[in-house]
Amino acid sequence: MVSPQQSNESEGVAACLQEVTKEYQLGKTTVQALRGISLSIAVGSYTVICGPSGSGKSTALQLLGCLDMPTTGRVEIAGQDVVALSDKARTSFRAQHLGFVFQNFNLVPVLTALENVEYPLQLTVRDAAERRERAQKMLEAVGLGTMLQRRPAELSGGQRQRVAVARAMVKRPKLVLADEPTANLDRRTGAELIEMMRTMQREHQTTFILSSHDPQMIEGADERIRIEDGRVVERVQRSSPALAMRGAS
Ligand SMILES: Nc1ncnc2c1ncn2[C@@H]1O[C@H](COP(=O)(O)OP(=O)(O)OP(=O)(O)O)[C@@H](O)[C@H]1O
Ligand SMILES: [Mg+2]
Repeated sequence: MVSPQQSNESEGVAACLQEVTKEYQLGKTTVQALRGISLSIAVGSYTVICGPSGSGKSTALQLLGCLDMPTTGRVEIAGQDVVALSDKARTSFRAQHLGFVFQNFNLVPVLTALENVEYPLQLTVRDAAERRERAQKMLEAVGLGTMLQRRPAELSGGQRQRVAVARAMVKRPKLVLADEPTANLDRRTGAELIEMMRTMQREHQTTFILSSHDPQMIEGADERIRIEDGRVVERVQRSSPALAMRGAS
């Protein structure tokens, strides 16, 4: 059974990368996607990772989301060294603690919006009626209460993106990762999505880590981390007493 160590959590660190490198092998060529990244993300914060195309943002999010492992270095989520876990334990840890919003939504086309959001609860909630109720409430929270029975193809891009956020949030994970969640949305729909995530962050103290090029997403962030060529080149923290008190560095 994997349980987060309370020590780090009580210090207010939701996730951290220590000296992380990531290399991809492309035939005989080695691509260095991350070249030694260290960062820590405060519990309950809303952090945006930005930087040019190919700088390593998605790679960093995938490591923080336990979807991939680093070549070297340490990845800690809620005080747990996730590299040290077995594949099975890591899958279970991910299911328990993390929500992921993919840039291309990754919804299951044959399932309705309601079934897509219910899906992550299959492993953890036995009672089918409770699963349905929680999924429905989450879809209502993202403004899709009238579209429960629609399949992804019958929804707009913005609505699909909201289903993806509802699916990531339905288990009430401590940490939600989202890769360019507003990239396919117009400005207004993007702003609505940001507001919705911020409400969830405030109400449930959820930590959000997002990658984005979107100025409206970047400007409201508690912290902005800029990556270039696999390295952190800038960290800007919005002066926030709450964050300072949580000991963010
Ligand atoms: N599976 C892979 N195999 C080989 N190289 C990869 C792989 N995934 C990513 N890369 C390379 O690693 C580097 C970082 O890629 P990554 O997807 O993290 O960039 P990004 O910052 O998310 O870019 P974008 O803004 O375009 O989404 C790039 O040079 C990319 O070509
Ligand atoms: Mg990317």
